[in-house]
Amino acid sequence: MIYPLLRPLIFRLDAERAHLLSLSALEMAPKRKAPAFDPKLAIEVAGLRFPSPVGLAAGYDKDARVPDAMLGLGFGFVEVGTLTPRPQAGNPQPRLFRLVEDRAVINRMGFNNGGQDAAFARLAGRRRQGIVGVNVGANKDAEDRIADYATGVRMMAPVADYLTINISSPNTPGLRALQEAAALDELLAGVMEARGEAGPPNGSHVPPIFLKVAPDLDASDISAIARVVIDRKVDALIISNTTISRPPLSSKFADEQGGLSGEPLRPLALAKLREFRHATGGQVPLIAAGGIGSAPDAYARIRAGASLVQLYSALVYEGPGLAKRIARGLLPFMERDGFKTLAEAVG
Ligand code: FNR
Repeated sequence: MIYPLLRPLIFRLDAERAHLLSLSALEMAPKRKAPAFDPKLAIEVAGLRFPSPVGLAAGYDKDARVPDAMLGLGFGFVEVGTLTPRPQAGNPQPRLFRLVEDRAVINRMGFNNGGQDAAFARLAGRRRQGIVGVNVGANKDAEDRIADYATGVRMMAPVADYLTINISSPNTPGLRALQEAAALDELLAGVMEARGEAGPPNGSHVPPIFLKVAPDLDASDISAIARVVIDRKVDALIISNTTISRPPLSSKFADEQGGLSGEPLRPLALAKLREFRHATGGQVPLIAAGGIGSAPDAYARIRAGASLVQLYSALVYEGPGLAKRIARGLLPFMERDGFKTLAEAVG
């Protein structure tokens, strides 16, 4: 509850500096155990049991520095990354902007990360508790992007509860072209083959594959993607990444290049979730992201077909207690509508 007091101080810092400081603070803070959630909030997706449907979206903890601290703050699951096979610096700074008046963020980070080897070592060194997914991407200068995804899957599978194939960042030129049906089919064939080869030494853990898409897709893109995703047996779809569109905004950073997230993304991300739900006919579990900042937002996504939700930008404005508050806040809505389990409320 001290976040409202700290916020003005944090907002005086450059956004990327504040982000790095928050990571360091979490690394240094005493370790907290993940809280116990009401059993009504638990849900099974892709063979994994999520204790709460409220997860941390990719991009906050790109290098897997603090997954357990985030679980300790009350996220039901944490997605680290995007990680590329080789370390890369990302775009020149400044590349991260707070649009305070709009409760939004624009970023053009460009997959800055320390690479998969370093993240693997960190994840291999933790006690495996709580669900931690690993989001993988391609290096900007990769000659063969599909090979980079396959490498990521092979490399990270042993330490990932699930793997996310991120083809929707607007900040790596050409990346989103992998959402086109033929390219996506080839990519997913490569990814599924790599996962087949990636079995850990004891062969017991084969992580499900999630695919993360952009909100800037039209109806024909969506039906083509849905078809490929069903054919290739993708385990879940994450809808969505940041948008390159610009709904009306008031902040002076409105015209910065990059992906927009936070409140102004909410209507678009919800609309695209509904379109994907329609296009997949309930055959693929859906995970909603984009402008979720409250229990009513999360509940609306669940009712629209999401089994899980993820958030990032709202944390900047609401502080570290948000995941727990949203999870708790879902219960009265479920009660009101007569749902005894979260699964009953989906769709
Ligand atoms: C992101 N996001 C993101 N997504 C991803 O798949 N890989 C990444 O590396 C990043 N990096 C990243 C950095 C920053 C600064 C932001 C704000 C976002 C996208 C993120 O996971 C999420 O999909 C969107 O931000 C929409 O959710 P919110 O932020 O509106 O809750």
